[in-house]
Amino acid sequence: MRRLLHIIESKSMDRASLQRLFDQASTMEPIANTGGSLIRSDKIMCSLFFEASTRTRLSFESAMYRLGGRVIGTENATAFSSAIKGETLEDTIQVVSGYCDLIVLRHTEVGAAHRAAQVSGVPVINAGDGSGEHPTQALLDLYTIQKERGEIDGIHIAMIGDLTYGRTVHSLSYLLANYKDIRITFIAPPNARIPESVKRYLDEKGVSYEETGDLLAAAARADVFYQTRIQKERFPSLEQYELAAGKYIIDQPLLEQMRQDALILHPLPRAGEIDTDVDSDPRAAYFRQAQNGLYIRMALINQCLES
Ligand code: CP
Repeated sequence: MRRLLHIIESKSMDRASLQRLFDQASTMEPIANTGGSLIRSDKIMCSLFFEASTRTRLSFESAMYRLGGRVIGTENATAFSSAIKGETLEDTIQVVSGYCDLIVLRHTEVGAAHRAAQVSGVPVINAGDGSGEHPTQALLDLYTIQKERGEIDGIHIAMIGDLTYGRTVHSLSYLLANYKDIRITFIAPPNARIPESVKRYLDEKGVSYEETGDLLAAAARADVFYQTRIQKERFPSLEQYELAAGKYIIDQPLLEQMRQDALILHPLPRAGEIDTDVDSDPRAAYFRQAQNGLYIRMALINQCLES
C-alpha cells in the first residue's frame, strides 16, 4: 500500500528532513516568480479551512498554482461545508479525499489534522488545529531564521505574548529542539504562559529555556524576537483576555535596546503588538517571513505529492 506523507506535527521532523525541505524551498523561489509545471496539471489540492486565514490559505493555494496544479476548497468550511448539517470531520475527509490528491486542513479543534490523516486516502497537511500546532508556520519561521542569519544553531530566541494558545510557538519550540545550543526565553503574561507539555519536551531534549515577564531585560540579549498576538478568540473569557492584552509591545524605544543584528519575527496577523513604526527597520523581517511561506509550502506540496 502507498505510504502517505502527512504533515501533522513538528515533533516528527528531524534535522536532516528539515534541511532537505529548506534546500528545496530555496529552489522554489525562482519558480514562484516565473511559474512552473513541477507537478502535473491534473493534480488537485483541496483547502478546507474551518477557521479564518489570510496567509496560510492563500500561500498554499498560490503555491499549488505556481507549481502547475489546481485547487478546490472552501474558506469557511464551518458554514459552507456540510459540517453545518452535522457531518463529522471523518466523513468529510473520507469523501473529499476521493476528489483530490492532497488536503490542507485548518480546524478549530486540537488533534483534528491527526484524525483527518487516520481516514484520508491522500496526504493531509495541518494548517493549524485550534491551539495545538501549526507545523508549516514553524517551518517557514525556521527557514526565515536560517535565511536571514545563515544558521540556526546557537541562537537565543525570545518568544513573546500568547504562549498558551499560540500554536506557532508550540510548533517552533519542538522544531528548535533539533538544533544545537538553542536558548529560549519565554515572555508571557501570567495567564498565557508556555504549557507544561512544551517545557517537558524541551527538558527531554536538553533545550535550555527560561520564563520571565521582563521583555526589556531580554531586549539586549536575544538574537531573534518572535512576537505573537494575544488571541482573543481562544481565551476562556473577555476578562482573562484583558488581563493578558497589551503587555508586550515592540516599539521604537524597545528597538533601541536590541542588538543591530537582531531579527524580529511575527507569524501575523498582528493586533498592535508591533508598532508600524518598526516596519521600516531592517531587523523587522515579518513580511519577508510571510513571503517565505510561499516557498516552504511549494516545497511541502511537492514532497507530499511525490510520496
Ligand atoms: N500566520 C498565520 O497562520 O496566518 P493566517 O491565520 O492569516 O493564515
